[in-house]
Amino acid sequence: MARTSTASLKAKRLNQEKITMLTAYDFSMANMVDEAGIDIILVGDSLGMVFLGYENTLSVTMDEMIHHTKTVSRGTKNAMVVGDMPFLSYHISIEEAVRNAGRFIQEGGAQAVKLEGGQERIPVVKAILDAQIPVMAHIGLTPQSVHAFGGFKVQGKDLETAKKLIRDAKALEEAGVFSIVLEGVPTKLAKQITESVSIPTIGIGAGQYCDGQVLVINDMLGMYKGHIPKFVKKFANLEPLIMEALKNYKQEVEAGTFPADEHGFTISDEVLERLY
Ligand code: KIV
Repeated sequence: MARTSTASLKAKRLNQEKITMLTAYDFSMANMVDEAGIDIILVGDSLGMVFLGYENTLSVTMDEMIHHTKTVSRGTKNAMVVGDMPFLSYHISIEEAVRNAGRFIQEGGAQAVKLEGGQERIPVVKAILDAQIPVMAHIGLTPQSVHAFGGFKVQGKDLETAKKLIRDAKALEEAGVFSIVLEGVPTKLAKQITESVSIPTIGIGAGQYCDGQVLVINDMLGMYKGHIPKFVKKFANLEPLIMEALKNYKQEVEAGTFPADEHGFTISDEVLERLY
């Protein structure tokens, strides 16, 4: 099976096959997501909230992202690995943005990068594309703009912002991005955006008409105790299972029932006798 590429994603859209994408932040999880046949693994800056325990995504650094991208890449054979450019890694200068994007590829082993923003990001997007690095865009409720938006609010509900999102999507396509994540956008607007471009759209809280879907893995597996947005469906509820296992472990160690004989290693009596 060949690794997901920008071309295979485009073909999926053309063939009206849905694209699947999930986040992952570590080797074991990436390995499972890859084996499940998910098309794209995003090493999202959601890492900051669900993995590193920050309040939002703004504190995540390039070094943290690269560290986790490396482990995800090592656990992945078929999925496309996309590195999420963290806050301030592409805002200060174009040169810095290209260097940081390059780190995801060169050090992290990713095949593409994602960055948040619309028309205002076109020069940065073009410079990264010039360095032969595929770019996935991300518009709508972009979490790095949480303070500018005044909270995590659905975007594009009024005429002006809805029109702006359509303009942003078209401009990003024209600049050359291979796909656009639409986050926190009304379902019917996401449909219009999807119909107004010819590259795949990947929705999160953007309804069923996008070409693909993405979720944060800890949310969809029921492993995150913080706030879970309305658009998340829990495909499993692992937290109670993990808690039960942890409590059983504690109880068995304290009671002396774990480890049992079958968990230990043997030594010959002859060697043992010679120890005394
Ligand atoms: O960081 C992330 O996980 C993301 C997805 C929610 C798209 O950007």
